[in-house]
Amino acid sequence: MSKLLTMKRIAVLASGRGSNFQAIIDNVNNGFINAEIVCLITDKPGAYSIKRAESAGIPVKVIDYSSFENRDEYNKNLHETMLKINPDLFVLAGYMRLLDKRTAKEFRGKMINIHPALLPAFSGLHAQRQAVSYGVKVAGCTVHFVDEGMDTGPIILQQTVPVFDDDDEDKLTERIIKKEHVALPLAVKLFCEDNLKIEGRKVRLLNN
Ligand code: GAR
Repeated sequence: MSKLLTMKRIAVLASGRGSNFQAIIDNVNNGFINAEIVCLITDKPGAYSIKRAESAGIPVKVIDYSSFENRDEYNKNLHETMLKINPDLFVLAGYMRLLDKRTAKEFRGKMINIHPALLPAFSGLHAQRQAVSYGVKVAGCTVHFVDEGMDTGPIILQQTVPVFDDDDEDKLTERIIKKEHVALPLAVKLFCEDNLKIEGRKVRLLNN
């Protein structure tokens, strides 16, 4: 029996050029993801993501990190903004700050992140550089629910790429980002179709 799905409202947080954000926009526009993108939140007034949002007619909320006295003030403002927008799902698409614990807790199960490594390996910054330096033969990306740790939440899906002997950080980044643009929209789609169930550390894919 097919179930009746209401169209989900999603908000995206991005700090940079926003190619993953664009992948979500494109996949909403082509019907792969059944959702409405209600807002882009960015901590960087100059982020290219803003232009992408404007071209797509998506409202933008800039919360300029550098305009706050300290991290707590920024976090408070971000938290309140997120509560006001109140979407079904927040997508961290290259959002380069660690959310405070209160925010992670508030939106537990409603917030996902893309990371350019096969977690739990190479969490944090410069994941691709870490992978090249370590000498791994396989790398990739991970989409996971956000919890209170750094890149530690339950894993939704991962996609792999080979690492070649003459790879540098840039070459590997280029190979991984192509997978990110497939993995993130797929995870968003699964969420929007109520096909993800968190069971402890594991995320079960349902077949609704
Ligand atoms: C992506 O590679 C994303 O996985 C990474 O930042 C890049 C953003 O690219 N995120 C993290 O490293 C978060 N820890 P984009 O702005 O072109 O989407």
